[in-house]
Amino acid sequence: MNAQVNTFTPLPCTEPGKSGAPPRPGASQDNQVKISFQGVSKTYGGRGRSGNRTLALDRMDVDIKAAEIVTVLGPTGCGKSSTLNLIAGFEQTSTGSLLIDGKPIDGPGPDRAVVFQQPSLFPWLTVMENITLGVKCRGVPKDTYEPRAQMLLREVGLSGFEKHYPYQLSGGMQQRVQIARALISEPKVLLLDEPFGALDYQTRILMQELLLQLWQEHKPTIFFITHDVSEAIFVADRVLVMSHRPGRIKLAVNVNADKPRNADFLSTPEFISLQRDLLHAVQEEVHANKNRPPMAKAA
Ligand SMILES: Nc1ncnc2c1ncn2[C@@H]1O[C@H](COP(=O)(O)OP(=O)(O)OP(=O)(O)O)[C@@H](O)[C@H]1O
Ligand SMILES: [Mg+2]
Repeated sequence: MNAQVNTFTPLPCTEPGKSGAPPRPGASQDNQVKISFQGVSKTYGGRGRSGNRTLALDRMDVDIKAAEIVTVLGPTGCGKSSTLNLIAGFEQTSTGSLLIDGKPIDGPGPDRAVVFQQPSLFPWLTVMENITLGVKCRGVPKDTYEPRAQMLLREVGLSGFEKHYPYQLSGGMQQRVQIARALISEPKVLLLDEPFGALDYQTRILMQELLLQLWQEHKPTIFFITHDVSEAIFVADRVLVMSHRPGRIKLAVNVNADKPRNADFLSTPEFISLQRDLLHAVQEEVHANKNRPPMAKAA
């Protein structure tokens, strides 16, 4: 395992880049940018009777590289899911540009797959039918998707469960099905919103290891939201911490340990040091939010 773990990069950057212009906060130095937030703000509401508006994201800047695993931490309500929903194309930016492969995102697409905390499997379909429904509906031939589905079932450790129904599976197994279903369309980007939040500790670790193994096989760009600092470090190439709402990237921290990782990583000095720093950064935002006047919280 590479011992160079604790690359702690406080943001915003105060040192100018070589060009003289300061790098955008959260921006990676690599040219192969997959997803780019450029001054992205998101405001909800403003119409209807109440007219309440919520500024969820405020001029957010971050670049995410192809095949990078980025995890996102931040206090509740800071805009993490909003960020993911923008990448997924479920929501549109209010101002600024959000680009994928240099082009604006204008809606959902098969190049991006989403996994949520609660498994959203169809209870009347088998595991195999749940995994293959989407590609089948898109007209992909059976002899293309079926071998791929079998391979994914093997990879997520569910061989032999093809004909089971969701009620016959544990929570962890249902999440494995969700991940296989997400990967069957060979997405270039995998978006996960607290995917393991409902699982017990041991199952979470197994799922985190599984995710890293799947990344090794398929190399998608991963955007992973979690409230769990350990999880954020364990799976990430880079951990982003968001400020309290309106959300911005408060800091970005690189995790340089080799992947895939196993549970031994959790007890290394590097991991523990990162955990302490990130916990502190998140706690600061949680308390800052608590101490805001009620009107500012609602605005
Ligand atoms: N569809 C929506 N309509 C109106 N307001 C919304 C909508 N979605 C999110 N918001 C508001 O935007 C803010 C950010 O919400 P978001 O769900 O992105 O936060 P989050 O960081 O994912 O929170 P949590 O950690 O609790 O999941 C919140 O104030 C929320 O009420
Ligand atoms: Mg959320």
